Amino acid sequence: MTKITIDPWGSFLVKDYEKLIGQYGLEPFTDELLAKIPEPNKLMRRKIVFAHTDLVRVLNAILQKKEFYALTGIMPTMDKVHLGTKLVIENIKYFQEHGAKTFVLVADLEAAATRQVSLEEGRERALDFHIPAYIALGLDPKKTVFYFQSENEKVKNLAFIFSNKITLNEYRAIYGDTDPARIMSSILQAGDILFPQLEQRMPGVIPVGPDQSPHILISRDIGNRTKSTFNFVPPSGLYHKFTPSLDGDLKMSKSKPESCITIPDDVNEACKKIRKALSGARKTLADHRKYGAIPEGDMSYQLLMQHFIEDDKELKRIYDEYKSGRMTTGEIKDITCEKLIKFMNEFEKKMEKAKNIVPKLKFIQ
Ligand code: TRP
Repeated sequence: MTKITIDPWGSFLVKDYEKLIGQYGLEPFTDELLAKIPEPNKLMRRKIVFAHTDLVRVLNAILQKKEFYALTGIMPTMDKVHLGTKLVIENIKYFQEHGAKTFVLVADLEAAATRQVSLEEGRERALDFHIPAYIALGLDPKKTVFYFQSENEKVKNLAFIFSNKITLNEYRAIYGDTDPARIMSSILQAGDILFPQLEQRMPGVIPVGPDQSPHILISRDIGNRTKSTFNFVPPSGLYHKFTPSLDGDLKMSKSKPESCITIPDDVNEACKKIRKALSGARKTLADHRKYGAIPEGDMSYQLLMQHFIEDDKELKRIYDEYKSGRMTTGEIKDITCEKLIKFMNEFEKKMEKAKNIVPKLKFIQ
């Protein structure tokens, strides 16, 4: 088995999510687990969530109405939300609605160290764009605690204390790289992930894309190694698949703008990209009618499934129509485009409202 080195800062390709599960000791997201989850969201029902670590701790807290938390971080690098980030927010929203204390931090120090975004620029961008966008995408600002890494003394102190709990060789084995800016950022991130437990020991869940899985691993190791001092409950991870690139590659990325849609986006441009996106239809209409499409390999279908259709019955209807060849590639692209336009318009409206809320938010320091 070839070893996959995950680089949370950029260039990594996992062709096979199963491999990732094996290598990082994740637990597969099984039907059995799904059956235990109260009102699972569409990402869980559709197995876009593919793995977890220790989610049972969090499920028990939900079922027993005990305290637990959900946490994520914002990288304030551009004035756009990646579709993958939308999946994180959707999972956070699920746990928030099921009783999680919710923490959203702005990773301004990480952005400064690894992406050359000044603290001022990161702050401004988070306040003007990311925080309202996260609210527009469904977080309840009344139930969410926000902070900036640069302003949270406790998180920074944790990072210093944690810094002697991992060796350079271990770091290299997990990340395949030992750049000081990245080392500092990942230890700080362990501080973020465990910080909510300083007040109170409790289970917590960190929903992430596969590229962030090393951070969860490290936080869990550090938690174990500081047991005598802190006795943190090991944080749980919930992992969702990437949103594929419109050309069919594993991960949609802004490095290929013709295959990438962001939130917000110019809807005309986005629809043009959808027209050119990889299709699961057959080469000729005659063959299509005869053999039907392969929806799984169709990027419009992927967008509908991951992002734009909530209702399982509606999705199933489209799946069946397309797979049987009754629906053409043009028709599924029309539907995708229509849904996308509706989503983007609603986002814009919610964003305007959310911007008014930001000045009222209190940030913990
Ligand atoms: N490293 C994350 C990213 O690149 C941002 C982040 C910082 C984060 N601290 C976190 C994410 C804690 C989850 C939990 O997007």
